[in-house]
Amino acid sequence: MQKILVADDVEINREILCEILSGDYLIETATDGEQAIQKLLECEGRLAALLLDLQMPNMDGYAVMEWMKKNHWMEKIPVLITSGEDSAEIENYCFEMGVLDFIHKPFEGSIVKNRVKNIVELFASKNGLQQKVEIQTKALEEQGRIIQIQAEKLRDTKRFSHLMMQYQSAIMVVETKLKVLNAEFSQEYNRNPFESIKSRLKTPKSIYEKLERKGFPISVKSIEENLTDVAGVRVICSFPDDIYRLAELVVRPNDIILVQKKDYIENPKSNGYRSLHLILDVPIFLSHEKKYVKVEMQFRTIAMDFWASLEHKLRYKKTVEDMEEIESQLRICADSIAVLDHQMLQIRDKIDKTHTAMLHENQFL
Ligand code: GTP
Ligand code: MG
Repeated sequence: MQKILVADDVEINREILCEILSGDYLIETATDGEQAIQKLLECEGRLAALLLDLQMPNMDGYAVMEWMKKNHWMEKIPVLITSGEDSAEIENYCFEMGVLDFIHKPFEGSIVKNRVKNIVELFASKNGLQQKVEIQTKALEEQGRIIQIQAEKLRDTKRFSHLMMQYQSAIMVVETKLKVLNAEFSQEYNRNPFESIKSRLKTPKSIYEKLERKGFPISVKSIEENLTDVAGVRVICSFPDDIYRLAELVVRPNDIILVQKKDYIENPKSNGYRSLHLILDVPIFLSHEKKYVKVEMQFRTIAMDFWASLEHKLRYKKTVEDMEEIESQLRICADSIAVLDHQMLQIRDKIDKTHTAMLHENQFL
């Protein structure tokens, strides 16, 4: 059963209203305005209507209406005035304050019953409708927010792909430069300065992981500012001296700029890793701008590349038994490779010398 609050200072009035309504509702009563407000607050959300007398001691019905209007209680609960007043002015005033009905004393049982029933039902359905509108408004707002987030993501995705396109272009610039050098060397000296090139763009996943690992912000701007190895070009050479010669030819004034050099051939890593790493600023020419983009170049010999790929695989297999033993064996292999590379270089030099001497001799034949 729903609850109704009857506020009237005259006991007999309260009793009459109780008599009329108690078949359909549970009745709460208040004897003045203060008590009425107290009960409203106590029973918030559980009252179906307030039947309010106008003339009461301490705090009258007018003051209750004012309080309710000021505190937005008129929207929470339907108010019916039960009064002996029959001035149209007063009745109008009450409606202006937001009450929904005005029941004149003395009470006529069935009329009171019907009017209360109507008002309670009307208010409930109006409230239900309002709730639906509120829910839909919230859903629309939520949709709006989602659309905005998606638009931002899309903008970000566009900027991300634009940046990846720039890295890819920088890789192409470096590759072209290497291919031109290769063509020139083949023609002029009948040999190739490198064996092969492997290029790669870091995947979005590993870009994300690296930014997070290093504590950098996750944004397109941050990729550009903080990562130097999104674009990578690995050059595999036959001999160690080719590496330095080629690295010198790649970096040129007004063209590709050297940002950082890590010489792990001169200073091998403790695990035996030997490569020459260059971080480069590579110019790319877009339709409206010239831009420098970072590229990481790694130069290593064929033998060292073989070693590095095996060692790299091992990094992802930390559960391998006798890890220390394997690491030590790998270090020994790396050192042997360095010796082997040097020996191969000496053999090549000998062959070259003999070849040059032969050519020289032929000139005099
Ligand atoms: P990363 O955060 O891994 O990029 O290292 P870094 O920023 O300190 O740069 P570094 O020049 O040392 O290494 C760059 C890249 O070289 C690595 O991402 C690997 O591809 C390769 N590299 C470096 N050290 C090793 C190594 O010990 N073994 C192997 N197999 N590859 C290595
Ligand atoms: Mg790296």
